[in-house]
Amino acid sequence: MAEPADRPAPVSPAEYIDAIAQHVSSVCIITTAFEGERFGLTATAVSSVSAEPPRLLVCVNKSGFTHDKIVQAGHFCVNVLTEDQDRIAMVFAGMGGADVDRFATGDWTRLTTGSPVLAQAAAVFDCVIASTSEQSTHTVLFGEVVATRHARGRDTLLYGARRFRQLRKVFEAGGGEYGDYL
Ligand SMILES: Cc1cc2nc3c(=O)[nH]c(=O)nc-3n(C[C@H](O)[C@H](O)[C@H](O)COP(=O)(O)O)c2cc1C
Repeated sequence: MAEPADRPAPVSPAEYIDAIAQHVSSVCIITTAFEGERFGLTATAVSSVSAEPPRLLVCVNKSGFTHDKIVQAGHFCVNVLTEDQDRIAMVFAGMGGADVDRFATGDWTRLTTGSPVLAQAAAVFDCVIASTSEQSTHTVLFGEVVATRHARGRDTLLYGARRFRQLRKVFEAGGGEYGDYL
């Protein structure tokens, strides 16, 4: 890694946000359960890390309410949404207001850890926290996957260029080699 004095200056937050907004991701709900209560937030900062061991990562903002609950519980579940679940994504992003019971939307169950599992999700990854990395405003949580479920043939909900998007529409829109996909 370059020494701090030799590193080019970082771009501004605004420049970074404009560019990263073009990065399209699956929309997920990260859930946990702590002291008999359920918590969850919408997240797109989710990535596979490795298959051996089965490990993924999620980046969660420390300023959110759910962050500390996940860390204290020591486990979380990644629920990958299907293309028709944009409403539940908005609820778990807090768009219904602070007083809304987010878990009133959708059918919720549990697998191994006790973190809430969305019955209709395209895929779920029930995880125990293997390690964490503090990255200024966010914590990167590395989850060891202890249980999964997935539904074949269900397309996932996407988010990119500041909008929810459906994979089916992406393909339908593509006309030529450089079709206007997004
Ligand atoms: C499409 C979309 C993606 C998001 N991705 C993330 C994410 O990856 N990490 C994160 O911490 N917040 C993300 N958010 C914001 C949280 O969902 C939002 O701040 C939520 O209200 C946090 O809930 P909490 O205060 O209960 O933690 C995203 C929001 C939207 C709409």
